[in-house]
Amino acid sequence: MLTAKAMGYDSCPMIGFEIEKVAELINLPKDYVMGPMVAIGKKVKDPWPKPGQLPLSDLVIENKF
Ligand SMILES: Cc1cc2nc3c(=O)[nH]c(=O)nc-3n(C[C@H](O)[C@H](O)[C@H](O)COP(=O)(O)O)c2cc1C
Repeated sequence: MLTAKAMGYDSCPMIGFEIEKVAELINLPKDYVMGPMVAIGKKVKDPWPKPGQLPLSDLVIENKF
């Protein structure tokens, strides 16, 4: 995705697909593993702003449950 961006393209990763069926469609060899599917193209509009990272103090619990 970084390489696509460096080449002037935009991209979007997806894992919401039927891995086994896509593997069959493209004749994926048995010793290969499917990763995310990545759509690459030219954006038609800017992505909406993302909220950013939550503070680690909201996410990390140390030394207790
Ligand atoms: C590894 C990975 C897999 C993703 N898979 C999906 C997917 O299967 N379906 C989906 O709608 N978004 C998926 N996303 C999120 C999209 O790439 C994208 O960020 C999102 O759809 C953009 O819409 P949003 O701005 O409403 O989040 C995935 C993101 C990552 C990092």
